[in-house]
This record gives sequence, structure tokens and C-alpha cells, in this order.
Amino acid sequence: MLRRGLFITFEGPEGSGKTTHSRLLCDFLKKEGYKVLHTREPGGTLISEKIRKILLDPKNKEMDVACEMLLYMAARAQIVKEKILPSLKKGKIVVCDRFTDATLAYQGYAGGMKLEVINSIASIVTKGLKPDITFLLDIDAKAGLLRAGKSKDRMERKSILYHNKVRNGYLDIAGKEPGRVKVISATGKIEETQERIRKAVLKICHSRI
Ligand SMILES: Nc1ncnc2c1ncn2[C@@H]1O[C@H](COP(=O)(O)OP(=O)(O)OP(=O)(O)O)[C@@H](O)[C@H]1O
Ligand SMILES: [Mg+2]
Repeated sequence: MLRRGLFITFEGPEGSGKTTHSRLLCDFLKKEGYKVLHTREPGGTLISEKIRKILLDPKNKEMDVACEMLLYMAARAQIVKEKILPSLKKGKIVVCDRFTDATLAYQGYAGGMKLEVINSIASIVTKGLKPDITFLLDIDAKAGLLRAGKSKDRMERKSILYHNKVRNGYLDIAGKEPGRVKVISATGKIEETQERIRKAVLKICHSRI
């Protein structure tokens, strides 16, 4: 058990392996005896999952980027309050598939909204919470989309130009916060990538017991 919780997030373009690696990491940490909450954004609570449906529905073609950004933030406000903060308070490891960096990369760098505006709204909905460590699974946008498969949601249907901006946005964030954001190539073997992730997490866990 950790004295205080640990907040880990996975970020990266579509199909980069966030769900795969966050799941593998959680299974591993549970076997190691840690108390873990695995969750995803947008989603993770009843209200947030409803917002997720609106955001990802391909029928909502007209959605304005400000509407999109605010809906992501609304879903985040709910999961932070209902799940993430209470779990961290109990000393759990919280592993979240996407968080604020995704809003910066998608609605900011790719969607054109001011990063300061996103950061300022994020600070309200997260109550200042930042991940202790973020794994940025990096992959060429096109290769990631190919992996993600055929039944594309509303975000995945955006142009390749948009998805390239997302990838470059993520890399820019990593450049600004190298201490928190670890860039990991998502093109290697799943087992090798997972091993690197586990080592980095265990190092922090051992320093916190
Ligand atoms: N290193 C890898 N090599 C080959 N295939 C991989 C690798 N990592 C993940 N995959 C495969 O790519 C697909 C997408 O992975 P995953 O769903 O974990 O990505 P994601 O980042 O969660 O995607 P999304 O953004 O759509 O949620 C899956 O079929 C997964 O098995
Ligand atoms: Mg996923």
C-alpha cells in the first residue's frame, strides 16, 4: 500500500496502445498487491459515459470545437470528483486512459483552441490535479489509425492532417514537461514496451512506500 496514491496516465494518438498498455499495467500492479483503479476518459462514471456517447457519436458532425472541449472537461470534472480523487486519497494507484493532455493535443494543438484557455478550465475541473507520470505512446498518426480499425468514431474520422497535429502536439507537451511525460515508441513489441512502463512505475512505487 502506498502512503499516498499515484496517478498514472496514458496518452497518444489513436491506436497507439493506450488501452492495451494501461490494462496490462493494471493487471501487473494488482498481482504485485497494489490497490488499483483503472479508468478511461471520457467516461468512467455514469454521467461521463453518457457524455462520451455524445462526443464519439459519428452523427454529431456539426459539433463545434468549443462544445467538444467543454464536454471533455465536463466528463473530466465528474470522474475527478467521483473516482480519481477519492481513490488517490485511499492510497490507490489510479491508471487513466487519457486525461488533460488529450484535450490540449486534440482541441488545442489540432483543434485550434488557445492552450491557456484549456489549461485554465482544466485547473478548475481537476482541482489542480496533475498526473505523477504520463506515458506518451508515440506512433505515426496514419499507422495508429490503421491499427485502430474500421468502425471509426467521430474523433477517428477527422482528417489525417488533424491527427498529425495531435501527434505533434503531444510531442510538444512532452518537450515542455520531460520530468512527467515519458515518450515511448509504440511501434515495438508490446511485451518490451510494457516492460519499460512497469520498470518506470515500480521505481516510483518503491520510492513512495
Ligand atoms: N506494439 C504494438 N504492435 C502491434 N500492435 C499493437 C501494439 N500495441 C497495440 N497494438 C494493437 O493495436 C490496436 C490498438 O491498440 P489499443 O486499442 O490499445 O490503442 P488505443 O491507443 O487505446 O486506441 P484508441 O485511441 O482507439 O482508444 C489493438 O488491436 C492492439 O492489439
Ligand atoms: Mg483505447
